[in-house]
Amino acid sequence: MGKLPTIIQGGMGAGVSSWRLAQAVSRLGQLGVVSGTALDLILSRRLQDGDPGGHMRRAFDQFPFPEVAERIWDKYYIPGGKPERASYKLLPSHAKDTPLELRDLYILGNFVEVFLAREGHNNPVGINYLEKVQLPHLPSIYGAMLAGVGYILMGAGVPLKIPGVLNRFANHEPATYPLHIVGALDDDDRDMKFTPMEFTGRDLPPLTRPKFLAIIASNTLAITMLKKADGKVDGFIIEGPTAGGHNAPPRGKLQLDENGEAIYGERDIVDLEKIRALDTPFWLAGGYGAPEKVAEALDAGATGVQVGTAFAFCEESGLRPDAKRTLLDKARSGKARVFTDSVASPTNFPFKVALMEGSLSEEPVYKARPRICDLGYLREAYRTPSGETDYRCASEPVSIYLSKGGKLENTEGRKCLCNALMANIGHEQVRNGKYTELPLVTTGNDLIMVDRFLPDGSTTYTAEDVVRKLLSFAPRPKANAEESQACPVGCSSGD
Ligand SMILES: Cc1cc2nc3c(=O)[nH]c(=O)nc-3n(C[C@H](O)[C@H](O)[C@H](O)COP(=O)(O)O)c2cc1C
Repeated sequence: MGKLPTIIQGGMGAGVSSWRLAQAVSRLGQLGVVSGTALDLILSRRLQDGDPGGHMRRAFDQFPFPEVAERIWDKYYIPGGKPERASYKLLPSHAKDTPLELRDLYILGNFVEVFLAREGHNNPVGINYLEKVQLPHLPSIYGAMLAGVGYILMGAGVPLKIPGVLNRFANHEPATYPLHIVGALDDDDRDMKFTPMEFTGRDLPPLTRPKFLAIIASNTLAITMLKKADGKVDGFIIEGPTAGGHNAPPRGKLQLDENGEAIYGERDIVDLEKIRALDTPFWLAGGYGAPEKVAEALDAGATGVQVGTAFAFCEESGLRPDAKRTLLDKARSGKARVFTDSVASPTNFPFKVALMEGSLSEEPVYKARPRICDLGYLREAYRTPSGETDYRCASEPVSIYLSKGGKLENTEGRKCLCNALMANIGHEQVRNGKYTELPLVTTGNDLIMVDRFLPDGSTTYTAEDVVRKLLSFAPRPKANAEESQACPVGCSSGD
């Protein structure tokens, strides 16, 4: 295995770890990771914003299937951008049998993000997906591989069948992926299918098979992945409950503390002794965004760390500038606060929320939002009484959710993460020229100390400031020096 990175800049969806951030990190010889979530939608909205900077156009020109690129360009590009109060176009609905336009958007959206993140250097770039957001998986992964992605990282589920998909796509072979359908019967057809030849229409040279890193929060899952995955698992990210984004729920029955936050206990702590025994590279995540924590991880036998929150607030991240400024100010003045919301996410996973005025973290703001579900990335598939597959989201209008067999208790406190996450990156939907979707920013508990990356006298910091600081610990001699040695800024981790 080539030299492995000490720092992985964690995937941050949607669009927070954009190509710009991942490129900045990978240029420094560490691993930049783009978020692979909702890239179809993000691409369509960048085009409707007039493609500022011309970056989409540059990537479109390198896409090996120009007729697909031009079709999408013609449909979504608005010269100069849409009027501010106009709504963005909606995309076709995600479904098990992907509509062709959406398939093309998945492939192109993933290609563009990886292509741009790889520009200007020769180091690997990764892409991150949430296993639970299953419908886009196959065409998305293929699109990322067409652009030469070096690593696929996946959490929020048990991605046993992804390594095999990578093996098959490396040879442009058809692949299937089982869709989780609530109430499915044994002989129901649950497989999503993608046949590269139906898209490419011609033979292509083999693609590089990216490394696969599974993001996990338990020893059992690590062992299951190694024993049962249908291809090679190249490493693990072991993520603790202080990490930003979605967190693995605590083991056993959910218990909340007096603030209403999930209580994690002894059983949730991953035994690193057992992880070391698996003889597979691993990185530690969740509160490792500090030089002393990097040193601690290396001492524990990890290859390095995965860091999210510290990178979410640097200049290159996709997070909207007003939210970055407000939350950085809060961190500086000791007023930043992060809440682990056990019900906000329709996925049912705890979701970390930064408290911020005017965002959906405030109850009255949340209550004033019309309950609308029109993006649908977090919908679950279920079997209807007549045996069809339909989709529902616990954040959609309650009566509609109930009419699809959903339970009332699942709807309480649920938030529309899809629309909020688009607002977090400046692609907020405007409804009838009146209601504008508002942000709901996710960060890890490390938000309270992100100001430590600010250079003296500066109000902003860069990805390079983060990487330099994280690698500023005194290097220690290691037993297995070749794989776990810190790679200083500027060195190449060329794969
Ligand atoms: C804004 C934000 C969004 C995130 N989104 C994702 C995601 O889409 N997929 C994922 O696997 N992890 C996600 N994470 C987790 C990060 O990849 C990383 O593991 C985590 O932030 C590490 O912990 P830290 O926040 O304490 O540095 C997100 C984190 C943040 C801060």
